[in-house]
Amino acid sequence: MNRRYRKTIIAGNWKMNKTASETKAFADELKTMLPKAKWCDILVCVPFVNIAAAQKAFKDTRVAIGAENVSQFEKGAYTGEVSAAMLKDLGVKYVIIGHSERRQYWNDDDLIVNKKALAAVEAGLYPIICVGESLEQRELGVTKELIDLQVKTALAGIPAEKMRHVVIAYEPLWAIGTGKTATAEQANEVNEEIRTVIRKLYGARVARSVTILYGGSMNEKNAEELLAQPDIDGGLIGGASLVPEKFNAIINAANQE
Ligand code: PGA
Repeated sequence: MNRRYRKTIIAGNWKMNKTASETKAFADELKTMLPKAKWCDILVCVPFVNIAAAQKAFKDTRVAIGAENVSQFEKGAYTGEVSAAMLKDLGVKYVIIGHSERRQYWNDDDLIVNKKALAAVEAGLYPIICVGESLEQRELGVTKELIDLQVKTALAGIPAEKMRHVVIAYEPLWAIGTGKTATAEQANEVNEEIRTVIRKLYGARVARSVTILYGGSMNEKNAEELLAQPDIDGGLIGGASLVPEKFNAIINAANQE
């Protein structure tokens, strides 16, 4: 973390978990333990159908509610899709884009991720753009090139003044839901690389201010060490964000002065 230059964000990614009533139960429990989080922003990204329930349950707290996906299209005949304008109108601020599960199961490739990021930014949403390599790619030694390409493609056409709304999340595929976390050094190395790419595209001032998260089996045990790294500005947390005590412990790790 480097709070002097950029925001720290602890974001939950609930994926396809919890019903509306389970969402309320989670909120009621988390609210009893939440610290006075001054030093980090707290966000929970939930399935579309639970956004309203989550907003209601977390009303008057510092927990913001985000979405997990958005359509690349503005509006029209796209059955089942949800547009950026719809999310914005609901009062949603952040939206996850290009999560590896979207990339894997719904073919959200780099070009679609770019279109979604543009649609989000255009509508005034804050995209959390996910990038990451597979184990095979890491072992082939192409992580850096791959991340460069993912970041450059995702950001194509996003003007510098909108970059203060953009968050990047580095999520190595081999660490997601596997219990296998990247070491703090491995994660920081890639986050630093992402910042370097942004510096080349937008200059030092923008690069310094972009929040870059780490995601992939972040939990209450490893959060402190990961967050101590200079280029890890928070976490995108799946499994551990579903359990109030665990999520709260991660918030606490990010909330230390
Ligand atoms: P995980 O998921 O924390 O369960 O590994 C992270 C993510 O996929 O965003």
